[in-house]
Amino acid sequence: MKFLILNGPNLNLLGSREPGIYGSTGYEALCAMLKDKAAAMGAEADCFQSNHEGALIDAIHGAVGNYDAIIMNPGAFTHYSYAILDALKAVDVPCIEVHISNVHQREEFRHKSVTAPACVGQICGLGTFGYVAAMTYFMEQRHG
Ligand code: DQA
Repeated sequence: MKFLILNGPNLNLLGSREPGIYGSTGYEALCAMLKDKAAAMGAEADCFQSNHEGALIDAIHGAVGNYDAIIMNPGAFTHYSYAILDALKAVDVPCIEVHISNVHQREEFRHKSVTAPACVGQICGLGTFGYVAAMTYFMEQRHG
């Protein structure tokens, strides 16, 4: 099982960005942790982060034939990017949407995800464990 873990805008600043909300784990440490967890499950994970919508869309397109599943935190694009929604719908690679924070406890505009309808499901509020939970789900689906 090969996972593509996509993170959108401002998630490169994890660790220093609003640590009370997003925690103190930096982006590089998150990727290292996810690669280790994937390996422990007998899987593989590649991480990609961009602050640019088009680069994320290109990465989604590029997942076809190269990855079994996408785990994506689209950041603020979650709330308004119909282009990312369409990209997820256009590819035959299942995706789980992850949010580190509990978006439902925050501002009203964060309550709506326009991208989640193209996903198998959405995990929010579990911190960085949400990415691990998503990988675990896909492993269970594949191997029972
Ligand atoms: C986020 C929640 C979004 O509302 C926000 O714009 C982010 C991070 C999260 O992981 O909790 O950038 O996706």
